[in-house]
Amino acid sequence: MDYLQIKRVNSLNGNIKISGAKNASLPLIAMTILANNSVHIKNLPHVADINTLLKLLSNLGAQCDFHDDRVVVDTSTLTQTKATYDIVKTMRASILVLGPILARFGHCEVSLPGGCAIGQRPVDLHLKALEQMGAKINIEAGYIQATAPDGLKGCDINFDKITVTGTANIVMAAALASGSTTLSNAAREPEVVQLCEILNASGVKIDGIGTAVLTIHGTNGKLIDIEEFSVIPDRIEAGTYLCAGAISRCELTLTNVEPKHLGAVLAKLEEMGSTFTTTKESITIHPSEVIKPVKIVTQEYPAFPTDMQAQFLALATQANGTSIIEERLFENRFMHVSELQRMGADISLNGNVATINGGTQLSGTDVMATDLRASSALVLAGLVANGTTDVHRIYHLDRGYDALEKKLEAVGANVKRLKE
Ligand code: EPU
Repeated sequence: MDYLQIKRVNSLNGNIKISGAKNASLPLIAMTILANNSVHIKNLPHVADINTLLKLLSNLGAQCDFHDDRVVVDTSTLTQTKATYDIVKTMRASILVLGPILARFGHCEVSLPGGCAIGQRPVDLHLKALEQMGAKINIEAGYIQATAPDGLKGCDINFDKITVTGTANIVMAAALASGSTTLSNAAREPEVVQLCEILNASGVKIDGIGTAVLTIHGTNGKLIDIEEFSVIPDRIEAGTYLCAGAISRCELTLTNVEPKHLGAVLAKLEEMGSTFTTTKESITIHPSEVIKPVKIVTQEYPAFPTDMQAQFLALATQANGTSIIEERLFENRFMHVSELQRMGADISLNGNVATINGGTQLSGTDVMATDLRASSALVLAGLVANGTTDVHRIYHLDRGYDALEKKLEAVGANVKRLKE
C-alpha cells in the first residue's frame, strides 16, 4: 500500500492546474448509457473512481477508451444490466447507472451500496422517485431489482431531502421517460447543472436548470445524440489547494478553475483573512499571516460544501482563536478529528459540531486517512506540522485527487508517495 510522506517546507509558490471534477464526471459517464452514439468526454481527472465506473460500464458490455484526460464511451454494445457487489462496494456512486439503465432497458439490478465511512447514505429517495415513475422495485439478497417493462412515465416528484446523485439519477431516468417529469427540491450543485445542460443540448429539453425545480421532457425511449464536451473544473480540488495556500500562508495560483462555483468557499477564506485575484479561469490566493477563526455550517450548494469541511477544519487549527464547524449533511464526517488531535490539534466534538481552538503547533506523526476529504485535510495539516507526517491508507485520496503529490511538489512542497 502507498502512503504519503510530508515534510514541512518554508514556502510554496507557483501554479496548480485543476483537473476535471470527479463528481461531475461520474454522472456524465453514466449518462452515456442514454446515448445513441459514441460519446467523447474531455477533461476527465485521473482518479480511481473514474476507472471504477468505466470498469463497471465495460463489465456491462460498453467499450471505453480512456487516454490522457479523454474517454470515448460506446454503450451500443452494452447488454448486461446488473451492477455487481464487487464494484458497487468500492464506489457508492455506481448507483448512478440505475436510472439510465432502467430507462433504456426496462430493467436493472444494482447491488445496494450499504453504509460508508461518513454515514449511512441510504438511496431510498432514488428508489421512491423511480417507483413514482412506474418502476417496480424489489430488494433481494442485497440487490435493488428494478423493472419498468412499459417504460418509465413522467410525473411530479418532490425529494424529501436534497440529494445530488439522486437528482442526477432521476434526471437521467426522466430523459428517456414518456412525458414530463417535474422534480422539486432538486440539487443545484454545478455538477448536476452540467449534466442537465448537456442533456438539454442533446435534445432532452430541461426547464429550470440551476434551480430547485427541474422539468425534464422525456424522449419516450428514444436514445439521444451527445456531442463532445469537457467536464467542469473540480471545485473541491480547487478549494483544497486554496486551503493549502491559506494554511501555509503562501501565494498560489490555480488555473483551469471556475471561480463562480467557489462562492461559499472563497467567502469563508476571506473571512479568515485571505484575499484573491480572480480571472474567468484562475484564482490567486493572497493569504494573510494571521488566520482568523470562522463559523461554518455545511449545507447543500450554493452554501458551504460538506466536501470542504475537513480541509477547513485543518485550516482552523492554525487560526488565531476558536472556530466552530457544524456538519449537517453526513452524520459521521469527523473521522479526521481524532487524527488531527494526534498531531496536537485542540478540537472538541459535540455531536455534529466541532470546536477548534486554533493556534496550536502541529507535529508530524503517522496518521490514517479515513475517507477522501479527510485524507486531504491530513495532507494540509502535514504541510505546516513540525517534522514528518506519514498519511496512510491513501487509497481514499486516490479515489478523488488527481496527482495530488505531483501538484503539491510542483509548487515546492515536500510530499512523496512511498510504499509501506
Ligand atoms: N440521502 C438520503 N436518501 C437518499 C439519498 C441521500 O437520506 O436516497 C441523504 C444522505 O444520507 C445525506 C444527504 O441526503 O445525508 C445528502 O446526500 P447526497 O445524496 O446528496 O450525497 P451523494 O449524492 O451520495 C454527493 C457527492 C459527495 C458529496 C455529497 C453532498 C458524488 C459522487 N458524491 O454524494 O461527494 O459529499 O453529494 O454534497 O457526487 C466526495 O466527493 O468526497 C463525496 C463524498
